[in-house]
Amino acid sequence: MKRARVIGTGSYLPEKILTNFDLEKMVDTNNEWIIARTGIEQRRIAADSENTSDLATKAAERALEMAGIGAEEIDLIVVGTITGDYPWPATACIVQNNLGAKNAYAYDVSAACSGFVYALSNATDFLEAGRGQKALVIGSEILSRVIDWSDRNTCVLFGDGAGAVVLDLQEGEAGVLSTHMHSDGSYLELLYQPGFSTRNLPTPEAIADPQNYTLKMQGNEVFKVAVRSLTEVSKEALAANKLSHKDVDLFIPHQANRRILEATAKRLKLTDEQCFINVNKYGNTSGATIPIAMDEAYRQGLLKEGSLVLMAAFGGGFTWGSVLLRW
Ligand code: ACO
Repeated sequence: MKRARVIGTGSYLPEKILTNFDLEKMVDTNNEWIIARTGIEQRRIAADSENTSDLATKAAERALEMAGIGAEEIDLIVVGTITGDYPWPATACIVQNNLGAKNAYAYDVSAACSGFVYALSNATDFLEAGRGQKALVIGSEILSRVIDWSDRNTCVLFGDGAGAVVLDLQEGEAGVLSTHMHSDGSYLELLYQPGFSTRNLPTPEAIADPQNYTLKMQGNEVFKVAVRSLTEVSKEALAANKLSHKDVDLFIPHQANRRILEATAKRLKLTDEQCFINVNKYGNTSGATIPIAMDEAYRQGLLKEGSLVLMAAFGGGFTWGSVLLRW
């Protein structure tokens, strides 16, 4: 059977580091509170000159380099993002042009923190349907530009970054085994960004008030649904493949915060050694957390041929999903 196999990973994190101690000078918070409630120690912030497509392009170049292929070999580019350069065209089209991937068609997926797993699911279906040979899947975000930096409830949680993987359709056991995606639009009010679009026009009065365009979140409520959904969708992936939690070599969850990850891992009966966590270094980079984590895990030697990798994400929408793959 032919499967979509990961043959390259790459990530890019902006240079600027914002620590919890920097945040202490900006809002009424402290390092101990942030670490205890989230596990986050620092996050990266994109330079004014950097756009989401720039972060995505750099991550993609590194993934292509590892795969040892040229951009013109890519048939499809999907970018999971909620902070794209423009409402349209798609950031994926800008990345396609930056890379010179002239044979690829390109589009974005808007699924918030689940953006990467949704994109990976799309690209897998595309390859398995025989529509192409290679796909580039990217998660890229500049959340620092849609955060209310005076709101301590949210500004301590998020960061900027990008990660990418190259998929190649290959015969054999390695590759994506299954994907399971879900949505529930009834939870909109718990996590969303009004922004400026057809529902919310950029009148002078609206622009004057950051409440009209910054991220909104009811953290407590999100926490509960996130843990439940991440657990259920992970179990769904294992059951569909007749595998158990003991078979998982590495669990790469969306890096929202350490407490969500630990609560999910406990419900799945996974050990610390089975779970990859880097939220302490980058905070929540939404659709970018999983590909960044996958790239780091690979480069740390944690992913070897035959490793069983379980990914699970949850985000605004609500959206959630899991991907099970054999490395
Ligand atoms: N520093 C200090 N105190 C703070 C801060 C802060 N940065 N933020 C909130 N507080 C205060 C609150 O004002 C509140 O004070 P009060 O008791 O005087 O009213 C107190 O801390 C407790 O607030 P809670 O919201 O109950 O704190 P909680 O333990 O729930 O932690 C948190 C908040 C970290 C946001 C948690 O709810 C959470 O992790 N939620 C998930 C949100 C998330 O990860 N969203 C990302 C997008 S979705 C996703 O990626 C899965």
